[in-house]
Amino acid sequence: MNAPVAVVTGGSSGIGLATCAKLLAEGMSLAVLDLDGDTAKQTAGPDGLGITADVSEPEDVERAFAAVLDTFGRIDVLVNNAGISGGPNATLVHTTSVEDFDRVQAVNSRGAFLCSRAALPAMIKQGSGHIITVASVAAMIVFPGRAAYNASKGAALMLAKSMAVDYAHFGIRSNAVCPGFTETPLTQWRLDVPELRKEVESRIPMDRVAQPDDIADAIAVLASGRMPYMTGHALVVDGGWIAL
Ligand SMILES: NC(=O)c1ccc[n+]([C@@H]2O[C@H](COP(=O)([O-])OP(=O)(O)OC[C@H]3O[C@@H](n4cnc5c(N)ncnc54)[C@H](O)[C@@H]3O)[C@@H](O)[C@H]2O)c1
Repeated sequence: MNAPVAVVTGGSSGIGLATCAKLLAEGMSLAVLDLDGDTAKQTAGPDGLGITADVSEPEDVERAFAAVLDTFGRIDVLVNNAGISGGPNATLVHTTSVEDFDRVQAVNSRGAFLCSRAALPAMIKQGSGHIITVASVAAMIVFPGRAAYNASKGAALMLAKSMAVDYAHFGIRSNAVCPGFTETPLTQWRLDVPELRKEVESRIPMDRVAQPDDIADAIAVLASGRMPYMTGHALVVDGGWIAL
């Protein structure tokens, strides 16, 4: 039997990079979509496909998924992981520029929509598939001063739940993973400042931020198909943060 095929967006860094390593180790074939196509090619492994693509651009996404289907002929798992936190001024609503707001929604929410939209026809034809969307605990609790990001992650989570309901009859599942604070290039600026790291860690019952592997493990377990009755779920991986 051919290896299952996974498409991972934002696979050139952080959580996406760690996820690709785990999926490869579990024997999946990989297609990696990222703005950084060179790293995506390395991440995808020798038999994989690395594609330069902006997930917020419909033409890029259509072209990328056409290439994936041309190469592999099927898509078993889509990991909607590409995301941004917004520029330094994307803070309070009244100081966030319209451009900053739109860009954050375009990558974090529209990107997940566009990639799912491109993958679903193949999954419907197969009668199977699993869409895993990397949202955030910011879809459930507010990160103060990050209104655009919180709104985008709330949208991504409800998109994931909507697809679970709408595509269950096609044999397709959709779940979200909601990481807590994770040490990646997205957050490194904050964690490099000892006082800021201490402040973040003081809110986490397990006393440490997540490493990318902590989140990738959760994504890999979902992708493995070992929990076949789970759909429409938001899997929180946050060291106990939002339970507090
Ligand atoms: N790091 C955290 O604390 C944390 C917490 C909760 C959720 N998340 C989410 O996890 C996901 C991964 O974040 P990370 O921390 O690994 O970030 P990261 O910055 O390390 O990696 C993000 C990757 O996405 C790619 N990317 C960004 N915009 C893109 C676009 N328009 N098209 C294609 N690729 C694009 C980047 O090139 C990069 O490779 C994001 O959705 C993020 O919101 C992160």
